[in-house]
Amino acid sequence: MAKAAIMGFGTVGGGVYGIMDDSRSRVSLSAGEPIDVKYILDIRDFPDHPRKELFTKDFNDILNDGEITVVAEVMGGLHPAYEFTRALLESGKSVVTSNKELVATYGTELLSIAREKNVNYFFEASVGGGIPVIRPMHQCLTANNIIKIAGILNGTTNYILNEMITKGKSFEDALSDAQKMGYAERNPAADIEGHDACRKIAILSSLASGKFVDYNDIPTEGITEITLDDVHYATQLGCVIKLIGYARFLENGRVFSIVAPMLIDKSCPLAGVNGVMNAIMITGDSVGDVMFYGAGAGQLPTASAVVADMIDAVKHTERSKKIFWEKPDGDITASEEDEKFAYFIRTGDSAEAVRAAFKDCRFVENAVAEESAFVTRPLTKTEVNDGVSRLSSVISRIRVFG
Ligand code: NDP
Ligand code: HSE
Repeated sequence: MAKAAIMGFGTVGGGVYGIMDDSRSRVSLSAGEPIDVKYILDIRDFPDHPRKELFTKDFNDILNDGEITVVAEVMGGLHPAYEFTRALLESGKSVVTSNKELVATYGTELLSIAREKNVNYFFEASVGGGIPVIRPMHQCLTANNIIKIAGILNGTTNYILNEMITKGKSFEDALSDAQKMGYAERNPAADIEGHDACRKIAILSSLASGKFVDYNDIPTEGITEITLDDVHYATQLGCVIKLIGYARFLENGRVFSIVAPMLIDKSCPLAGVNGVMNAIMITGDSVGDVMFYGAGAGQLPTASAVVADMIDAVKHTERSKKIFWEKPDGDITASEEDEKFAYFIRTGDSAEAVRAAFKDCRFVENAVAEESAFVTRPLTKTEVNDGVSRLSSVISRIRVFG
């Protein structure tokens, strides 16, 4: 029988314990042996829990227990999650996590320690909640050079946009509901300002390129500036607005990544991904396009991925599964000049002024009174900035996907 520990008994940790307890025989069958949760670490007390004897506030109980072979880190945050994970890996225990902030920040080092110690550091739940995407990328798609990744990577923002559009909820009410359902980060600014999606596209980019892509280098915009007027214009254009994480892998080894709200044509499969659902489209040079879809946040979907990692870790005790990326020798970040997007722009200027600033633009009919709305041809960042600088006002500027 394998012995496990869970660090953090919140939304995800509660789900992990629930699945381990309710599905003992399923877990045992998959792992080849039963997995027994011996400790749950949390800073809070749970005096009414039926297994209250499992709870500890002392990390050393887990670290120093030689029986423990796998630990689920579902506490979140960088510290002490980093120090705990590093100590566990160094002591020869495998760690699995849903903590994308930690993976995106310290993944290079933690994966390297796991390799060195012949244990595993798995992070399936860190991107796309319950969607299998990390394992397919490092197993099923490894014969491919990855060309492009594009996805809806944050459940909270996708839920908020959908509730605002379909139910007319205010931004604040939709966010509050996402928090009640356990989708949002502890500080929801990480969701709505795009940082959570940024960490996720950084993880996918690092995995695809084999080189660490630093999320601090990824231009990131959230959904806080999107208005219902923007949404109505998008509808007129046959599009929807989604927060997209995007990465393109250039032939020179550089990676262009970005997180931003984008207009998506309704014919694109990403346009139909609503509510808390996430989807990730990956283009490989041999396989072509593949798409992964499912619940991007929430207790049981996320715990499903964490428990699967625990099972995989037990199946691979003392066998490191070569998932890694390395620090690149130099900077591998592609410039924003390497990628062109069409832009949807709203301005208080006349159509004549718009035509003088932008060549070949397409106007949206029935614009709100006293404004012009148009879509440009694909432009680099410098080109769009140049055009915008010739206008006296810009109400909105949103990239168009595809
Ligand atoms: P919660 O805040 O619900 O749970 C975290 C738990 O860990 C809380 O009980 C917290 O206690 C406890 N904790 C925090 N610090 C410590 C510590 N130093 N020692 C012991 N316990 C500690 O978060 P979630 O479960 O929602 O998220 C956990 C991680 O999973 C995060 O990294 C999140 O980004 C990620 N994630 C979450 C998803 C979701 O849908 N919720 C989906 C995918 C990933 P206290 O509350 O008292 O601070
Ligand atoms: N807050 C995150 C989201 C949790 O809404 O997508 C899943 O990573």
